[in-house]
Amino acid sequence: MFQSDALSINHSNHLTIGGCDTVALAQQYGTPLYVMDEDLIRANCRLYKHAMDTYYDGHGQILYASKAFSTLYIYRLVQEEGLGADVVSAGELYTALKAGFPAERIYFHGNNKTDEELTMAVERGVGRIVVDNAYELSRLDTIAGRAGKVVDIAFRVKPGIDAHTHQAIMTGQIDSKFGVALETGEAMDIVRRAHGMAHVRVVGLHCHIGSQIFDLSPFQEAARVMMHFIGDIKDALGLEINELNLGGGYGIQYLPSDNPVPYDQYIEAVSKVVKATAAERGLTLPRILMEPGRSITAPAGITLYTVGGVKEIPDVRTYVSVDGGMADKPRYILYQSAYSFVLANKAGDAPTKTVTVAGKCCESGDLLGEGVSLPQVEPGDTLAVLATGAYNYAMASNYNRIPRPPVVMVSGGQSCLIVRRESLDDLIQNDLLE
Ligand code: LLP
Repeated sequence: MFQSDALSINHSNHLTIGGCDTVALAQQYGTPLYVMDEDLIRANCRLYKHAMDTYYDGHGQILYASKAFSTLYIYRLVQEEGLGADVVSAGELYTALKAGFPAERIYFHGNNKTDEELTMAVERGVGRIVVDNAYELSRLDTIAGRAGKVVDIAFRVKPGIDAHTHQAIMTGQIDSKFGVALETGEAMDIVRRAHGMAHVRVVGLHCHIGSQIFDLSPFQEAARVMMHFIGDIKDALGLEINELNLGGGYGIQYLPSDNPVPYDQYIEAVSKVVKATAAERGLTLPRILMEPGRSITAPAGITLYTVGGVKEIPDVRTYVSVDGGMADKPRYILYQSAYSFVLANKAGDAPTKTVTVAGKCCESGDLLGEGVSLPQVEPGDTLAVLATGAYNYAMASNYNRIPRPPVVMVSGGQSCLIVRRESLDDLIQNDLLE
């Protein structure tokens, strides 16, 4: 009935997640509320890890792209599952380290890392710094030199691939703020430069072509292009790169009509291309890394809201307003991303109406969804939005001075608060008077 195995309907006609009644969760913790199913997150981690072991002979590593959902709890969980982590800021790095994540399994990304961030990464001994550009490279060499270290780096490369996804989340093509371009020779130049530096060691290449991609072919093409670049580097500089990080971006099901490729098929397909291209170019097989974010946590999360006013505008539309909105669920206003909705306290009832679900922010564009089919809806109902486990809590803001919702983790009928609800005092804690 539902796209996620974590969801079901109980004898009270209520939506359940991880064996917990969502209406009871809404009463216990209040709304808006993010709820995540721990077993599904762990199952997703295992699926990726198992596929890497099966199709790439255990010679690969899955990194969790923690921008999707970053909290102390998730870093501990993915560490227990044997994954590494991709971080993109001092804040994500700090959170990972505070959770006890081993620094050597952390990969530090970002197109404009500050000196403070580079220093922190070098001092704390992160596994790789994924260098974006020449300016960063020279600063990193200096910072590492000052610390008396030689750091292992990879380069973020634009492989020149146009992945078919929303423009704002497409990154592999030449007109992108991320990385160095292959086709202009910029990528070869930076590798050559780094090869002669005293405090960095070039061990890897990285690319990430975009997010929410449903085809295998752009990933296969990226793997082929990057392997040829490894071959070109060996020919030109005699330097053998032994690590290829192919990023994340695997699409997930937001709507019943979305048809994601099973995650293990990405790994199988890419592994074949890497092996074939290595044979063609006479290269030692590199270690491969993949960085899924969304596909690990998004399907495991839902957001619960309480319905407030229902405004019927005859011959126009019906607005159903909820107690959250763009502050906790910004992906509609940013990318017009469609989601599936379930009226959690009438979960098995047939839809009777098509409505627009509106948020509570002072902004007309603050909608959660349009053309949403719901059963008879009234104030006080609990509305669930599905597949919100990635890029929702992570991208939440305090717009309109709205406190961010808490996050509850559920498993086997038990719930546990992993992020508390912000208070009104939290909102003013950094404000100064006088
Ligand atoms: N690796 C790198 C270097 C990335 O930049 C990203 C995502 C990932 C891995 C993980 O991609 P995923 O598997 O989660 O698709 N806020 C946007 C998504 C931005 C993704 C940015 N980078 C959204 O809500 O759709």
